[in-house]
Amino acid sequence: MAHQRVLLAVTGGIAAYKIPELVRALRAEGHTVRCAMTPAATRFVSPLVLQTLSGQAVRSELFDPAEEGEIDHIALADWADAVVVAPATANVLARMAHGLADDLVTTLLLATRAPVLVAPAMNVNMWDHAATRANVELLRARGVAFVGPEAGWLACGWEGEGRMASPADIAEATLQVMGPRSLQGETVLVTAGGTREPVDAVRALTNRSSGKMGYAVAREAARRGARVVLISGPSALETPGGVERVDVESAVEMRDAVFKALPDATVVVMTAAVADFRPAQAAARKIKKEDLAEEEGLTLELVRNPDILASLAEQPGERVVVGFAAESHDVVEAARRKIERKRCDLLVANDVSRAGAGFDSDTNAVWFVWPGGDVEELPLLSKAEVAGRILDRVEKLREERG
Ligand code: PMT
Repeated sequence: MAHQRVLLAVTGGIAAYKIPELVRALRAEGHTVRCAMTPAATRFVSPLVLQTLSGQAVRSELFDPAEEGEIDHIALADWADAVVVAPATANVLARMAHGLADDLVTTLLLATRAPVLVAPAMNVNMWDHAATRANVELLRARGVAFVGPEAGWLACGWEGEGRMASPADIAEATLQVMGPRSLQGETVLVTAGGTREPVDAVRALTNRSSGKMGYAVAREAARRGARVVLISGPSALETPGGVERVDVESAVEMRDAVFKALPDATVVVMTAAVADFRPAQAAARKIKKEDLAEEEGLTLELVRNPDILASLAEQPGERVVVGFAAESHDVVEAARRKIERKRCDLLVANDVSRAGAGFDSDTNAVWFVWPGGDVEELPLLSKAEVAGRILDRVEKLREERG
């Protein structure tokens, strides 16, 4: 995915002030970025800033011999692996929808064969206008991808939908439009993070799962074109762009959310660290030590939580199910027993006692354990790479099952 060529088409809206940050975010992903601007865009953000940050000459005129000498507009349209229009005004959406080519940006958009991603930004009433809605529908039907706009306070003083998506979300969506689309048409359900089982009004039983492993799977699945539903226990992580996130706390809530999303899911990846037990009763108010005798301890009675993964095998429907196994010793043998019990298509085992693996680290070292007991050991990889390897296997299984 690295070293892709992104043509960033900047049009004239106030959100253009965020484009330098977008250039940096795209370059941080390893892309080469070239900027083309409408004359109006140059009034909101300086071409010199974009030239400095992109390290490439910026173009804004269609008929300037000096600019055409550098790289002509058709060569520029051909050069791109993706074209990102950000911010996209109502005006440029209208011109794109109707095939106009009356300046450099719209000419590039008509000439390119690369995927096009649009990040609209405008006043809420312009976005809601029937003309804009019709233009957006027309562009979507032609395969143009959209990111945003978001709702919030707008520079014009109105509140509503019309804010440009964040540079981070646009950079993520750019990866998605250039991605292999190998999971297009699939709905991937991912669980992530640890559950939190209430003890009383202020305390809970939980574990050290950060959500990093599950969020990496969700992000990679979205980059491969899947619809992704991420069911997450409490986590400080940002939702990956293009991913639908459902927040839950307890194992029972996670089970309910999984079962609700299950009918649409063609792939399920259960990375969540689900508590096996919960307090039999959660006290509605804080348990105070003053209410106990001086030396008296507190005994909690725990009851079993539902085993979500094991219950999936009984559910109707054809889907690939991947489970995880967090082990601290005899990893492979324990995982072999676990895949028999949980009846999933692949079990990803990790040794959570190893440095750089398991909870909260950015890397993981896993074994793929298959039904029947075959095992494949992977080296220490980033969680993003582990996610990629898992989804490679998922794609193969989906292919084999037609
Ligand atoms: O979130 P991170 O900080 O990135 O950490 C990643 C991780 C260590 C949490 C992850 O790599 C991992 O190992 N996840 C599985 C944790 C776990 O609960 O393992 P387990 O061996 O207890 O459970 C086996 C499988 O059954 C898991 O897929 C789990 O989601 C599922 N399960 C477990 C208990 C339960 N009541 N219901 C379940 O569905």
